[in-house]
Amino acid sequence: MKVYNNILETIGNTPLVKVNNMCKGWPCEVYVKVETTNPGNSIKDRMALKMIEDAEKSGALKPGGTIVEGTSGNTGMGLAIAAIIKGYKCVFTTTDKQSKEKVDALKAFGAEVIVCPTDVEPEDPRSYYSVSSRLADEIPNAWKPNQYDNPSNATAHYEQTGPELWEQTDGQITHLVVGAGTGGTISGTGRFLKEQNPDIKIIGIDTYGSVFKKFKDTGEFDKSEIYPYITEGIGEDFLPANVNFDVIDHFEKVTDKDAAIYTRRIAREEAIFAGNSAGSAMAGLEQVKSQFKKGDKVVVIFHDHGTRYLGKMFNDDWMRDRGFIEPTPIITALDLIRSHEHLPLVTLNENDEASAALDKMDKYNISLIPIVNDSGAFTGAIEDKHLYSELFRNSDLKSSPIKSIMQGPLPVVHFNTGIKDVSEQIGKETPAVLVMDLGGNWHIINQFDIIQSVE
Ligand SMILES: Cc1ncc(COP(=O)(O)O)c(C=O)c1O
Repeated sequence: MKVYNNILETIGNTPLVKVNNMCKGWPCEVYVKVETTNPGNSIKDRMALKMIEDAEKSGALKPGGTIVEGTSGNTGMGLAIAAIIKGYKCVFTTTDKQSKEKVDALKAFGAEVIVCPTDVEPEDPRSYYSVSSRLADEIPNAWKPNQYDNPSNATAHYEQTGPELWEQTDGQITHLVVGAGTGGTISGTGRFLKEQNPDIKIIGIDTYGSVFKKFKDTGEFDKSEIYPYITEGIGEDFLPANVNFDVIDHFEKVTDKDAAIYTRRIAREEAIFAGNSAGSAMAGLEQVKSQFKKGDKVVVIFHDHGTRYLGKMFNDDWMRDRGFIEPTPIITALDLIRSHEHLPLVTLNENDEASAALDKMDKYNISLIPIVNDSGAFTGAIEDKHLYSELFRNSDLKSSPIKSIMQGPLPVVHFNTGIKDVSEQIGKETPAVLVMDLGGNWHIINQFDIIQSVE
């Protein structure tokens, strides 16, 4: 039987998939390493298990211990999965910037999750780094992996991700493009690949609001580069020990907007459901494409799965609220009359007999007629229900002027009034509104027009 003894044995050996549409016409070949097939749906399973195994070996993590870590979600997921199999408890701190789906997923694996503010310095006692350190001190038999500085993080990729890529590309890989957060993926994978062929270029993807690129380019740790950003998983406001700047040839910064748009493009154009840092990486790849030549084999790492971003980059309202996609065009009163704007408005003169209202309702198959005076101003309206009840009460009214039984005039809206404001005016008491088109002709808008426009 071909079986695995537990889910941890399924970590790694992820597929390398050709990019077919997003890089059409480029001279190089582009492949993506799709890390979503790991049990926690991210590349972080690799380093989480490696950190735990190394800590078990060193004695830092003892049987029945509690793993305490500051994690944006994916590392926590890897740790939580391994903890279940190996019998540890997990307490994680994360930031309020992280998607709810990520936090809920950690809880699904039995972890305790403490959400901390994003907008504070790493040294601030409220930061998710500080809170996790404090908890690691306070909880008995606790161990803090510290993914940022723990060498096992990069080693996992040196031992697994690097060799897998070397083998999968038959040693032909020329460029590696990777979003950098703790730096473990890029540094470990990059170091292994450079040891095989020093000509392989390692390109790190950074975000605006992070310190990596400026530090690489100038050697300066510039605090003025730091500000809150939306992109998840990559970029930092400090220098983790796992970022090996010697292995990385270049850092490319990508905006939050491009990262979000490219995250969506990957799903729609390649049918690969990957997370936000994959979008960053593809946007960064596009930014540096002029350096690729014929025969190059470029590999991009897709760290995690799109399901974790359903409430964010894959949600149209979320994208619109941040100006990442165009706002929905507002439907106006003018749009609402499109289906009948060629038809003249059926009206009655206030001196017409009530029986004329019956005739017109029958002839035009309508239930509401606006009523005008001799100068054409709207002075009232008559609805079929009201007309019938008046005539039922007193059939002699048939020959009376309609103004004796008419209801109040319908409200008038400007042709530019949005659908929301129009529909708010239409209700039980007010069955319709009137609007004048650009040619000076009057039209009626009722509930049916509203329903039709949103279908
Ligand atoms: C979604 C995602 N992308 C990219 C990264 C960056 O990987 P690394 O920490 O190995 O640099 C992370 C790390 O947390 C991540 O969660």
